[in-house]
Amino acid sequence: MHSQPILELRHVGKSFLDHKVLTDINLTVNQGEIVTLIGPSGSGKTTALRCMNFLEAYDEGEVYIKGQMLGYSSPARGLKDRDSAALIAKVRQPLAMVFQQFNLWPHMTVLENVCAALILGQKMPKELAREKASKALAQVGMEKKALSRPAQLSGGQQQRVGIARALALEPELMLLDEPTSALDPERVEEVEEVIQSLANEGMTMVMVTHEMSFAAKISSRIVFMADGGIIESGSPHMLFHQPKTERLKNFLAPWFKRSRIFAEQGVSDV
Ligand SMILES: Nc1ncnc2c1ncn2[C@@H]1O[C@H](COP(=O)(O)OP(=O)(O)OP(=O)(O)O)[C@@H](O)[C@H]1O
Ligand SMILES: [Mg+2]
Repeated sequence: MHSQPILELRHVGKSFLDHKVLTDINLTVNQGEIVTLIGPSGSGKTTALRCMNFLEAYDEGEVYIKGQMLGYSSPARGLKDRDSAALIAKVRQPLAMVFQQFNLWPHMTVLENVCAALILGQKMPKELAREKASKALAQVGMEKKALSRPAQLSGGQQQRVGIARALALEPELMLLDEPTSALDPERVEEVEEVIQSLANEGMTMVMVTHEMSFAAKISSRIVFMADGGIIESGSPHMLFHQPKTERLKNFLAPWFKRSRIFAEQGVSDV
């Protein structure tokens, strides 16, 4: 028995002009769950994630955050029913996002980057913002780089700052869009370790990733998307070992093949 879900999508659809990219997306995320979206390129994973916090306006269905509808004042909406930016910010406050390309400000220090959303967005006093930012940087092991600029950091370090920036907002749910895909292979692990440590502490997450081993290890539920829809969802074991559809079998085949080749060569954990 769960209390109120943190996030709920009901029949969500989205078109870019006449191109329908999401169709009838239904998803409920409860506290402590780690839900991972997988699927081929262009299947709508990023768009779905961006609709969850209204960085992208969905145009069918409803998104609820802790029971409050996000983006529109009523389910039977027209454009005129769109909420004000201030109300949207308020409803989405329990959420924070980590971006594939880090999206750090190059002219600001690490500490300033993490403080910016607190000071500018939440109007927090500077001292308190610095305190919260320092704590978040320590959580991802980046406190020693507080005064560096992003260009002085490796990709892995920049993404850890990206995660700290989200953490400083003290979110109840984090959205992560391919948090390791812009990294050199040797930097992937350090970021996965940080995400794993957040998971161990009970952070609720919705993550998009192409790293299947990581998805299998960390997720409470995996959602397979193709052509803008959810094709299958379930536990990592169900999805990876008992796929029901040809679509999912075909999507996973190259990964299993690669894993087998690595296993034959005595290389583990791919
Ligand atoms: N701003 C946009 N304007 C027009 N079309 C868009 C826009 N953003 C995404 N699309 C289209 O929507 C579809 C879904 O894109 P999306 O980025 O959500 O896919 P994805 O599953 O995240 O892919 P990838 O794995 O490559 O990141 C694609 O056909 C894409 O071209
Ligand atoms: Mg994407």
